[in-house]
Amino acid sequence: MPGTGEASLVNALSPARLLASGARAPAAPGPAAAKKVGWPPRWAHRCAMLKLLFIGDIVGRPGRGIVEEQVPRIRRELGLDFVIANGENAAAGAGITGLIARSLLESGVDAVTLGDHVWDQRGWESEIAQIDRVCRPANLPAACPGWDHVVVASRGFRVAVFTVLGRQFMNMKAECPFACADRMVERLRGQADAIVVEIHAEATSEKQALGWHLDGRVTAVLGTHTHVPTADACVLPKGTAFMCDVGMTGPYESVLGREIGPVIARFTDGMPRRFEVASGDVRMSAALVEIDPSMARAAKIELLTFRR
Ligand SMILES: [Fe+2]
Ligand SMILES: [Fe+2]
Repeated sequence: MPGTGEASLVNALSPARLLASGARAPAAPGPAAAKKVGWPPRWAHRCAMLKLLFIGDIVGRPGRGIVEEQVPRIRRELGLDFVIANGENAAAGAGITGLIARSLLESGVDAVTLGDHVWDQRGWESEIAQIDRVCRPANLPAACPGWDHVVVASRGFRVAVFTVLGRQFMNMKAECPFACADRMVERLRGQADAIVVEIHAEATSEKQALGWHLDGRVTAVLGTHTHVPTADACVLPKGTAFMCDVGMTGPYESVLGREIGPVIARFTDGMPRRFEVASGDVRMSAALVEIDPSMARAAKIELLTFRR
């Protein structure tokens, strides 16, 4: 397995960052220093955990509504440091617009990620690069517009987030997500204290494989796209939080967020139909990751579901 595991994560934490946490900083850490003096230092456990909420695919108006209604309260009550949300279905179930992206950011979301529906809304391709807290999947062709990652900061701690699209049963032109993730992790190492990777994919096998591939090199690998939350949240052996799919934010009395009747009809007679966004049983599904800032490892991950 590539990567240098723990040492890489320790190196991502600069002495300046340690000072910002209020702790006394030792000499600059490095692999050699880590061996000699023991790393992390004994006082490191006193650093407060950082909390990151990753919200699954926001679907249409019901999904946007619950995010805008719940996020400000949840931020306050749970003491969240970072809120990241996938907005690939935020505009009527397909894509996103500049207006919607800005409104999600204003409601307390720090960064918006996207998936295979990234280009569904006409005109978005000319707007995306103007919003630096929105990123498109990193493994799209380089000529595609938009940022390939976002860095957010809280309490002096910087978290970089980027998305890779899977390639199994997906219809996008995308580079190998494993190679892209390796390259992005190397590139972002000096720019952030922790890295969160979103794997936007259909196949659970591809998602699990990426989680193991990045274990110890990033703080979390979180799945999106299937809209169905999975019961496999865990922290992998080298400290990476993992979950196959964090679930959908939208109407659960539906088929993946769409009205039930037309989807059943399409499956039975194969005729094309319009799938409107449903409206019943609106929930916000998200993964809460606790980050140990002393090592940029995940300490805990759990699935949270919020209802109106
Ligand atoms: Fe998707
Ligand atoms: Fe989606």
